[in-house]
Amino acid sequence: MSLANRSLVTIDDLSNGEIEALFSLADEMADSPTKQGGLCQGKIMASLFFEPSTRTRLSFETAMLRLGGRVISAVDIGATSLAKGESIADMAKVVGSYADIIVIRHPWEGAARVVDDYAGIPVINAGDGSHEHPTQTLCDLYTIRRKRETIRGLRIALWGDLKHGRTVHSLIYALARFGATILFNAGPGLGMPEHVLGKLTTEYDYKSIKVKTLGEEAKRGLFPLDAMYVTPDRPHQPAMFPDIPEISIRIKGDIETLQKHGINASLHYNISENDFQIKLKRSEIDTLYVMRLQKERHASTEEIQGLKRNYPVVDKKLLKGKEFKKTLVMHPLPRVDELAHDVDDDPRSMYFKQAAYGVPVRMALLALLLGAKEVTIPEEQASFVRKIDYPVYKRDSGIKCPNIKCISNQETEVRYIKPEFKIVSREPLTLRCVYCDHELHPQYVASSDWHEGKLENKKYHSADSHFGRKIKLENLIIFASENEAQAQQFKPSSYARQ
Ligand code: CP
Repeated sequence: MSLANRSLVTIDDLSNGEIEALFSLADEMADSPTKQGGLCQGKIMASLFFEPSTRTRLSFETAMLRLGGRVISAVDIGATSLAKGESIADMAKVVGSYADIIVIRHPWEGAARVVDDYAGIPVINAGDGSHEHPTQTLCDLYTIRRKRETIRGLRIALWGDLKHGRTVHSLIYALARFGATILFNAGPGLGMPEHVLGKLTTEYDYKSIKVKTLGEEAKRGLFPLDAMYVTPDRPHQPAMFPDIPEISIRIKGDIETLQKHGINASLHYNISENDFQIKLKRSEIDTLYVMRLQKERHASTEEIQGLKRNYPVVDKKLLKGKEFKKTLVMHPLPRVDELAHDVDDDPRSMYFKQAAYGVPVRMALLALLLGAKEVTIPEEQASFVRKIDYPVYKRDSGIKCPNIKCISNQETEVRYIKPEFKIVSREPLTLRCVYCDHELHPQYVASSDWHEGKLENKKYHSADSHFGRKIKLENLIIFASENEAQAQQFKPSSYARQ
């Protein structure tokens, strides 16, 4: 199968089978990196890094040179015509006429997608703000596979700044697709963003178990933990336990789910309190994935100092816990204070291997997207991925992405980018920005089939009213606010909230 001319903007651009096939090719590249020099001869890679990078840029450039190709690069926005106000789209068209493939890192979320829309050649997202970093995920999964021989059904703990760390956002979607149990220990105020968790539940049917709902007993049984996300479970069957109160049915359901995912848990009835409790024993963790505090995404030094104070640290002492006996300690790097240097010589430490595998993994990716290699895709029957083709809303009704870092909100780009959203749900109305994945829940809608020639019928309604929900998709107009609806000469109907 050929992956030629495809792009990698989000990790979801590759199927599970394609990822596994790419890893087989990366094995070939790792075994004989110096014998691949004929694969991409005559090809040019444009390396555009508008945020700092050591690993991603240099491993991509090494990979292209190893494949016999050449590299052109720009590593400073100030040295490009973007600094003169040129749009990303114009830059993409121009670079697309010079090179055969583009690798781009940019601070705006969704920038790689826009480059892909305009370049006319394959584009690889090397990190777009806090959004995604799909090739880091390939390096992470490849490292786990080299060590464990599988990337399916892992039990992985994500640690640190899960809010701004783009690598964990790509990683969590891939982990979900390969059926992982995911445990979170975020720094204070740095939990996984709602839109990422939303996608985990809507796209991958993941179920959340908040550790605090399991009670003190459960919390004491595990290392520091906020929440767990587990793969789809068989439905609970409350009717089988007609005499047990509802709360214990929920706990029974949680217990089954935890046990199914290898979390050592048991249910106990406390007779004096007439209550049920879950007891958790320490269960082994396959991988501990540590993230640094992404200080470049924070506004002020005071804010950074506050977050640093209670930031979770991984060190030799923590790794003495028996749940970490065989744990792979991973980090996309660079590290700062969150991962102690005293762990470097520990055989469980994988982070320098992760960085080194960047070359064979990126060699495989470049060779595939440039059509220099083809792959055989293995059987996909264990895949959890469900491609959902959501309807897209692109009507210009004043609605904007709520994320100020999204490319669709940038002054130089709004001249040609129209906000565009996937309609993820009608009840409640949920839109997901196609550029950065942030979600919004607009309250007011109208139908374009409104007037039958009569202006007085131009009415807006509550999105969650019976009438609002009935509007056909092709007629749907969505407003950010009542003011916006009224500015467009719509009047409230009796279905608009007062
Ligand atoms: N992991 C990673 O993206 O590192 P760089 O920022 O050095 O490229």
